[in-house]
Amino acid sequence: MSARNELRYLVKFPFTAAFFMFVGTIHGVLQVLPPIRHWLDSIGSPYGGPGHMIDPLAHAHINIVGGVVMMTMAAGYYLIHVISGKPVSLRLANHSYWWLTLGVTSFYSTLLVFGSWEGYHLLHNDPQAMAEVHHYYGICISIASTVMGMGFWTFFANLFITGRRMWRERHAA
Ligand code: HEM
Repeated sequence: MSARNELRYLVKFPFTAAFFMFVGTIHGVLQVLPPIRHWLDSIGSPYGGPGHMIDPLAHAHINIVGGVVMMTMAAGYYLIHVISGKPVSLRLANHSYWWLTLGVTSFYSTLLVFGSWEGYHLLHNDPQAMAEVHHYYGICISIASTVMGMGFWTFFANLFITGRRMWRERHAA
């Protein structure tokens, strides 16, 4: 298989990173528009409460994890391939891509949905309804965080396994 074909699996990383940063930058602009800014401030952003989930948490993580970390993974896989002449584990690379993509999507959606939902109850002076919704937030954000974490951990495992292989090959002689 040609070197270019061996690297084809990497193509999806920069496109996904660009998409997440596209959403993150629109989020960034929307959250400074006066009516939306006023709403976010009234539900606690950036210091705490439901507003904190939307700004800065959702905004920070879709840009940093969805954008920067996704690109860092692709750059890491590419550099190892070019320097060692051999690809990393393709299976783990695809695992890290899909776990991170699903993790960022679910983490961002959970923060937006629960931030808006709890914010609604806060603005309607219904702390009991807000607490009931927040109970489900804990479960959802734990699952989304773990899925996002799996993206990182399969990436670290891939680098560790590849590094160990390179080390053994170098010291085999
Ligand atoms: C599996 C990966 C990750 C998970 C589950 C996660 C989760 C969280 C959570 C729950 C908070 C909020 C803490 C609070 O209530 O104040 C937080 C804050 C933050 N995280 Fe992450 N995070 C992850 C990865 C990262 C990475 C890789 C970066 C940067 C490279 C990052 C940057 C931040 C920043 C800047 C804040 C503070 C936001 C603020 O309050 O100003 N996170 N993260």
